Amino acid sequence: MKPIGSLRRIGAMTAAAMAAGALLLASPALSQQQGKLKVGLMLPYTGTYAALGNAITNGFKLAIEENGGKVAGREIEYFVVDDESDPAKAPENANKLIKRDNVDVMVGTVHSGVALAMAKVARDNNTLLIIPNAGADDITGPLCAANVFRTSFSNSQMGIAMGKVMADQKKKTAVTITWKYAAGEESTGGFKETFEAGGGKVVKELFLPFPQVEFQPLLTEIAALKPDVVYAFFAGGGAVKFVKDYAAAGLNKTIPLVGPGFLTDGTLEAQGDAAQGMLTTLHYADGLNNPKNNAFRAAYMKAYKSEPDVYAVQGYDAAQLLIVGMNAVKGDTGKRAELVAAMGAAKIDSPRGSLALNKGHNPIHDIYLRKVEGKENKYVSVAVKNLTDPPRGCKL
Ligand code: PHB
Repeated sequence: MKPIGSLRRIGAMTAAAMAAGALLLASPALSQQQGKLKVGLMLPYTGTYAALGNAITNGFKLAIEENGGKVAGREIEYFVVDDESDPAKAPENANKLIKRDNVDVMVGTVHSGVALAMAKVARDNNTLLIIPNAGADDITGPLCAANVFRTSFSNSQMGIAMGKVMADQKKKTAVTITWKYAAGEESTGGFKETFEAGGGKVVKELFLPFPQVEFQPLLTEIAALKPDVVYAFFAGGGAVKFVKDYAAAGLNKTIPLVGPGFLTDGTLEAQGDAAQGMLTTLHYADGLNNPKNNAFRAAYMKAYKSEPDVYAVQGYDAAQLLIVGMNAVKGDTGKRAELVAAMGAAKIDSPRGSLALNKGHNPIHDIYLRKVEGKENKYVSVAVKNLTDPPRGCKL
């Protein structure tokens, strides 16, 4: 039998431990607020989209730095995964961030196929996800979720804008060409929708598997079809090669090549003469003269010694959106409902102009017509004002 004194001591210790435990239980917010915010960056750092992943990372980190290196007072701890733009590896990569690294928020990615898989993992685990590029229409349509946000665009948006511009220019026939996956199919699909509604006809839809760049047989087919215009979706390294091959085949002399701005954004240095004069549609342009864009471009140049592109803008806005949400809950990620409500209602001063989100958490923004002049995608006009997606079955 234990002496009375030590029993008392055990009793006192137990009471103290219980009190401490109760305090922890009662205030999880306190412990969350004081810890680092874990941010999982799942992006392509190798392959045809590597430059895009790097620009998004730079843009995201720039906005965080401008916010004092913190979000709502919490320091950031980054966990970085190279997703290789490989949809087959996406579930495992996303699960690593969530289950092994315990991230508070995932930021990614570029490739629509990878993003569709990430969004499923995010929905299954109720993890906050901010998509800084991939445009898969369904993610903010039928598959929309309270915890999934996008600061970039949806794939059909740029096609919808360019189809209208080309129909307005009285072009009658078009050929579309792209990689066969969600982004290419939805981008060219959007073009077809408005081009044909405006009286044009898409006479042929050409595809090749992602990320192949053997364009020659398809360019030969385009030469034989002689459409009034070609609409192409490619990006990154693939866009550089396509635009150069198109010009090398002499096609740019007779058949204008147009597309979403991804065809010429972040790529002009490498495309050189081949891209001159090309018209594209995008939610960003180099010469946008608004105070936020001017400040952003100067800060980006200072930090990274290179010009920003649309991907850098989207990464920057992903961090801006996170900051709005986190400020609303004073850094307490446990207050999920308030956090998500604040993000959904955010009005962001983006380098692109004003940015708001629709019900499915997809951008509402202006789509610009741009023209390549030298190393710039120069602003021409607003192609579509305040473009917003239909709900597409999103129930939130
Ligand atoms: C996509 O896969 O959704 C995607 C990839 C690169 C872009 C745009 C969209 O530039």
